[in-house]
Amino acid sequence: MKALVTGGAGFIGSHTVDRLLEEGYEIRVLDNLDPKVHPKGKPGYIAEEVEFVEGDVRNKEDIRRALRGVDIIVHQAAYQDYLPDYSTFVHTNAVSTALIYEVIREEGLSVEKVVVASSQAVYGEGQYRCREHGLVQPPARPQEQLDRGDWEVRCPACGRYMEPLPLKEEYANPYNPYALSKYSQELVAVRLGRLLGVPTVALRYSITQGPRQSLYNQYSGICRIFTLKLLHDKPPIIYEDGKQRRDYVHIDDVVEANMLVLRSEEANYQVFNVGSGRPTTVLEYAELLAGKLGKDIEPLIPGEYRLGDARHSVSDISKLRQLGWSPKKGLEDIFDDYLTWVESFGDIGKYFEEADRTMWERRVIRRASALCEA
Ligand SMILES: NC(=O)c1ccc[n+]([C@@H]2O[C@H](COP(=O)([O-])OP(=O)(O)OC[C@H]3O[C@@H](n4cnc5c(N)ncnc54)[C@H](O)[C@@H]3O)[C@@H](O)[C@H]2O)c1
Repeated sequence: MKALVTGGAGFIGSHTVDRLLEEGYEIRVLDNLDPKVHPKGKPGYIAEEVEFVEGDVRNKEDIRRALRGVDIIVHQAAYQDYLPDYSTFVHTNAVSTALIYEVIREEGLSVEKVVVASSQAVYGEGQYRCREHGLVQPPARPQEQLDRGDWEVRCPACGRYMEPLPLKEEYANPYNPYALSKYSQELVAVRLGRLLGVPTVALRYSITQGPRQSLYNQYSGICRIFTLKLLHDKPPIIYEDGKQRRDYVHIDDVVEANMLVLRSEEANYQVFNVGSGRPTTVLEYAELLAGKLGKDIEPLIPGEYRLGDARHSVSDISKLRQLGWSPKKGLEDIFDDYLTWVESFGDIGKYFEEADRTMWERRVIRRASALCEA
């Protein structure tokens, strides 16, 4: 069996490649070695036996070249950022997916399965229960509310605070460019898959963590940023009040979810959450990580917020559990595995400041003025 993994030089893609190799698959990777993710070129962890095609998922001829002779496709390549180049999100994440099916049809390829990497981001501000109005999928919190430092989500109809619910697959409410492109990607994949009879599954990963997360990518998030700050004896900066709930899933559990849906016919043409199913506040996360690193450093909570961030995002994972998958690893494992990997680097100092500075420059991070003045 031959598998194509797009984005196979990246974090989730490369771990999936390793797991597929263990299962005896021949592997082709299509990856453009995006310099924001791989400023030092092709990563050393890519196994020698992998056929590496350097190319772009937005380019039809690169897709054609990469699809030749493959039985399964795991589409991981993506544009993930907080920057306002909207069309890049759509081209890289959704158009690439349409190109895969276009080429499958044109070339009459017999592909047994396509798995696409979607994201918990498609839930937007999420799903809430209002005492008065029942289930609500609220819009993004208004900027005036965030500027007041009023962080919890209010019912758009009555203004009451609402109770956050575990995110269920049947509802999606994307509103930032990345989420919009990921939701489009899912729809394109599952529906074109059905149209062509190519079994397809979309997985909405929660925040995935572990070794090989790019140290350079501005998007790659909390573990990288907090770890690097703490390693330099600086306090991590927490947005909002730190009580926002998140869902951190270990890379090994995500890879096992990929493997399960590759094998499972029952999964075909469906969308599944892949998460830990456990809420962790950002503050708890920072405290646990500082403890792991042996640093007695309190995080800073200056009242900054990031436009477009959801307040609470914890996925309901019962649908994938019903197929026999369950997360096996927790935050402790995430920190242990990530830190072992980070400690193997010698030159990480300058990168985290650069990432923060770029986001400030592009006005993606704002400060809640009420708290600033206080
Ligand atoms: N990491 C997470 O927490 C997370 C959460 C939800 C969803 N996802 C999704 O999972 C997938 C993998 O994410 P990741 O964290 O491994 O990201 P990553 O940045 O580590 O890897 C992505 C890879 O895609 C490649 N790539 C980017 N643009 C490309 C293009 N135009 N053509 C070819 N290759 C290109 C990059 O070079 C990189 O190797 C993505 O689709 C992402 O949207 C990730």
